[in-house]
Amino acid sequence: MLDTAPNRPDLPPEIARRRTFAIISHPDAGKTTLTEKFLLFGGAIQMAGQVRAKGEARRTRSDFMQMEKDRGISVSASAMSFDFKDFRFNLVDTPGHSDFSEDTYRTLTAVDAAVMVIDGAKGVESQTQKLFEVCRLRDLPILTFCNKMDRESREVFDIIDEIQENLAIDVTPASWPIGMGRDFVGCYDMLNDRLELMDRADRNRVAESIEIKGLSDPKLDEHLPAAAVARLREEVEMARELLPPLDAQAVLEGHMTPIWFGSAINSFGVKELMSGIATYGPEPQPQSAEPRQIAPEEEKVTGFVFKVQANMDPKHRDRVAFLRMASGHFKRGMKLTHVRSKKAMTVSSPVLFLASDRELAEEAWAGDIIGIPNHGQLRIGDTLTEGEALRVTGIPSFAPELLQTARAGDPMKAKHLEKALMQFAEEGAAKVFKPAFGSGFIVGVVGALQFEVLASRIELEYGLPVRFEPSQFTSARWALGSQAAIDAFIKANQTHIAHDNDGDVVYLTRLQWDIDRVERDYPDIRLTSTKEMM
Ligand code: G4P
Repeated sequence: MLDTAPNRPDLPPEIARRRTFAIISHPDAGKTTLTEKFLLFGGAIQMAGQVRAKGEARRTRSDFMQMEKDRGISVSASAMSFDFKDFRFNLVDTPGHSDFSEDTYRTLTAVDAAVMVIDGAKGVESQTQKLFEVCRLRDLPILTFCNKMDRESREVFDIIDEIQENLAIDVTPASWPIGMGRDFVGCYDMLNDRLELMDRADRNRVAESIEIKGLSDPKLDEHLPAAAVARLREEVEMARELLPPLDAQAVLEGHMTPIWFGSAINSFGVKELMSGIATYGPEPQPQSAEPRQIAPEEEKVTGFVFKVQANMDPKHRDRVAFLRMASGHFKRGMKLTHVRSKKAMTVSSPVLFLASDRELAEEAWAGDIIGIPNHGQLRIGDTLTEGEALRVTGIPSFAPELLQTARAGDPMKAKHLEKALMQFAEEGAAKVFKPAFGSGFIVGVVGALQFEVLASRIELEYGLPVRFEPSQFTSARWALGSQAAIDAFIKANQTHIAHDNDGDVVYLTRLQWDIDRVERDYPDIRLTSTKEMM
């Protein structure tokens, strides 16, 4: 049996056994395949292929989803819970495309660790690097899985060097591959002195595991060709000399990443990685909040919304707020305080996401992710507590990098368009600014693809044709200051002023010169490109 929280014997066992993590990778490295194998070994699905099959059944329902499929990206994040040995894993899915970095950033505020999947032939790719940087901002522990070892891949030392150099993190091998491509037969488990042999005939079978007493054990020679054994001995010896040994504390602090080699499609190396997540995971971590930090073991329940998804089921027009439980033991039907509005809300039908099904959540513990269906009360960044006025911090909103004007295809439907845009703004899918002067809405996004996604969702979910046209503005900044200073600023700059969907004042421009001028002429006004969600 594994030790659920070696560092925290004081944690309630239900919390100590939780591992909440995300997978970060470049498209095509194997995230979907690995997720599927996690679910398979976690007993959440019976047969590999179900995740994709279900995904496709769902996707065919809409052009928007079709677009997602065509482009091979995953636009929306969701959460999945499953058990592995004594552990409860909560896997939060991150959108894979760089256009959705803001959404991804917020998703990563809801996890305690990340699994980085890289393709053994390609090494560290651009999107992996970007996501890694986000994890680093939060010092998240990172476990690495080097996938597709059944194909021709790079030399193991080269892969490790590249990670160390590009990502500036120490790498320690948790396993060592034996052969590669056609000759790949398995791995030597460096942490447990075991030989793991891959079964190429059955892709869903767990590898055969053979106990070995060190590299000189003659059992190695019984199971492997002589050349492979000689090479393995040599390489592992070199690795032990040149690479740092596993230091659990350094992993926890995000300075070191253990790397496992395997082949997700062949189910190989997956269980070892899962054991790694269980052991080095870590357990739910304290959450930064104002005016005080929240500890997971606190008896009272607190949680925060890191994602809102509207119209998950187009038939029901529902909205689901994804809540990361920060502390306590939640039970269905509990009355919680919605801190932003100071109103009580009874959470009577929370959902838990098991594979791609939803299920009523009777209870949840710190570390879990539950979905709360609601009619728009819950927004990204909101905190729910048992009464205390706590506000979770660190969930930012970024100024959009691209602005366009949205116009309803049918001018009679302008009001409907406003409603649809506001919903997407609350979901965090775009920024929507209503200019103080003139008509229409200015929509801001981080990546150009988001305009296409928005247009197809508005058409599909609201039946509204919409056009996005170039805007005269290219930058947006939130304006902060005392009420009097803001009033004077608005009066003198009306043609540049808009309000976002929270009613906050935004300064729009196309020139950096304008921003510099405001900073010079209005010392009482501060223009910012990030806003803390609250
Ligand atoms: P992603 O979510 O990171 O984008 O990757 P995904 O799992 O969809 O995998 C991308 C492709 O790589 C898929 O092939 C998948 O079958 C393949 N793949 C995943 N793991 C391995 C592995 O360990 N070895 C090998 N050789 N291939 C692997 P595809 O042809 O794009 O899709 P499909 O037709 O197989 O579904």
